[in-house]
Amino acid sequence: MKLFSTALAALATLAGCVTAFNVNCNSNYASYYGQNSARNQKTLGSYCADATEDVIVLAFMNGFPNIILNFANACETTFEGSSLLHCPNIAADIKYCQSQGKVVILSMGGAAGSYGFSSDSQASQFADTTWNMFFKGTAAQRPFDDAVLDGIDLDIEGGGTSGYTAFISQLRSHFASDPGRQYYIAAAPQCPFPDAYLGSTLNSGWFDMVYVQFYNNYCGLNAYPTWFNFADWDNWAKTQSINKNVKVYIGAPGSPSAASSGYIDGSTLSTIFNAVRSKYTSLGGIMTWDVSQARTSGLAGSIRAMLDSGGSCSGGGPPSSTSTTSSSSKTTSATSTSSTATTAPAYSTANPSSTTAVSSTTTTSSSSQPSSSSTPASCPVSGATCSGGQQGCNGQSFALCNQGKWYTSPCTPGTYCYMSGGVATCDWSNGRPTNTCAISGSSSFSRRTDLTKTSLITAANLRPKPASAIANIPTRVEFVVGDIVDDKYTTVVKIQANKSAFTGNWLISFKLPTGQTAETTSRGNLSVNGSTVTISSDRSVESLQNMAAFFKITGTFTGHYALPDAASAVFLST
Ligand SMILES: *[C@@H]1O[C@H](CO)[C@@H](O)[C@H](O)[C@H]1NC(C)=O
Ligand SMILES: *[C@@H]1O[C@H](CO)[C@@H](O)[C@H](O)[C@H]1NC(C)=O
Ligand SMILES: *[C@@H]1O[C@H](CO)[C@@H](O)[C@H](O)[C@H]1NC(C)=O
Repeated sequence: MKLFSTALAALATLAGCVTAFNVNCNSNYASYYGQNSARNQKTLGSYCADATEDVIVLAFMNGFPNIILNFANACETTFEGSSLLHCPNIAADIKYCQSQGKVVILSMGGAAGSYGFSSDSQASQFADTTWNMFFKGTAAQRPFDDAVLDGIDLDIEGGGTSGYTAFISQLRSHFASDPGRQYYIAAAPQCPFPDAYLGSTLNSGWFDMVYVQFYNNYCGLNAYPTWFNFADWDNWAKTQSINKNVKVYIGAPGSPSAASSGYIDGSTLSTIFNAVRSKYTSLGGIMTWDVSQARTSGLAGSIRAMLDSGGSCSGGGPPSSTSTTSSSSKTTSATSTSSTATTAPAYSTANPSSTTAVSSTTTTSSSSQPSSSSTPASCPVSGATCSGGQQGCNGQSFALCNQGKWYTSPCTPGTYCYMSGGVATCDWSNGRPTNTCAISGSSSFSRRTDLTKTSLITAANLRPKPASAIANIPTRVEFVVGDIVDDKYTTVVKIQANKSAFTGNWLISFKLPTGQTAETTSRGNLSVNGSTVTISSDRSVESLQNMAAFFKITGTFTGHYALPDAASAVFLST
């Protein structure tokens, strides 16, 4: 059963006895709609006819401040004499979904698009535009006519980091002008913490819910429990977010074809979900990419069932209406309203005697907060004694305990060592201190215990450098490490069109790092000439226009695993 507050229950009754979304519960299901990921996307309304999803996130407004909307086959009409989409069918369905107790929000950004703010004033002005075009304001052209959305989601995966806090602050001041209605601001960061694009915005803007993408990355659901890092996000919610009741969702691919990596089946997801629910009070529920995939695979039904089995709600304070920075004092005013809530221990007070993960978790939270008062923990020194499967950081070097002695190696230039979930991780600083000294507990890990291949472990944690590829259309190419087992690797290749879609016939080539072979690709045809690998699209499969292509290549390596150099990539669309 879902619990909801009396205010929302009253609203739901007015709307006709349907269960209404309650942001404070840990049994919510949010799913993205609009990109036709499974190629069988139905109308929005058809998904709202049953109780499966609670929040529909419309994807995407993938261009701003010059607005570009894209909802694939769900809306293909524009205002006369304009390229702006005009979507009366989605508009009618938004109202229908809302009458069913669901919340409909619009996602800004996405993996492919042309967006970003050049200044706070531009961002703040765009908040006015957003209010006028999609909420209670007025505008000559409103893509969803008189339908009023319930909020905004920021899925920022490119285009710079500036302006978003000003945007949120101004949009919230518009929301405050309509106190009879609850509006929401969400974000969809990728799982590596902190998020490359939203990291600082997440700390300075008031968010209601955060849909962490636990896929396409080393920290995804498929890496549970070793690398899966919900703990980092729970810690962020409780210690860094200005909304201390912000809800963190487990973002999952809706089917094996919805993401390059990270898909897990319903029963595995249920196991992880229940473990997270029993431990972390910041949990808000589950998010999937996207509705078409999750409904087709059947995962959506399993998710509804696991959410509805148990579950609880806890109080949340209202956001500060005028300032996003003075609000922390308000957040604790509401106390738990649930008698069934699991009393999960605060993350940093977890019993330090149990496992490696716990002790290193404590290390993580202290090292991720630049606190000048903390004296550096002991630095692992090459050749000194260590025990078990300890790992550690010494500034720009990572350290692994191998046969009782520390073995240190430098991180890739530009990155520094941090402890994350018990693992020494080389990552960009993103404002964190660059001189971290830390040593994990001594238990060994269940996977990747072969410490003779020391470089496996570091490289697997490197955040890839995005880079432009030379091409006939502007495109970004990114390489991300996938699974590494013994001498076999999986590398995820992400191609993201900057502005215009690329057509069915495309190819990408890039140089393999020394010692690597490329054997299979999950998309297109792979050929290798010396160290150059080329993947060409399959004409029979790639008949449509694409804004992005994600796929994986597999092969073997000797010595150190490394990501391909994105600067060597060439992309062509014909
Ligand atoms: C997109 O392409 C334009 C034109 O080539 C370029 O100026 C801009 O920086 C690109 N944006 C991103 C996010 O790569
Ligand atoms: C590989 O190339 C052949 C010949 O061009 C083509 O018929 C086939 O569809 C391609 N297969 C894939 C998986 O791309
Ligand atoms: C392989 O690469 C070499 C240059 O590195 C080039 O001369 C040759 O034509 C390529 N072979 C094929 C089949 O593309």
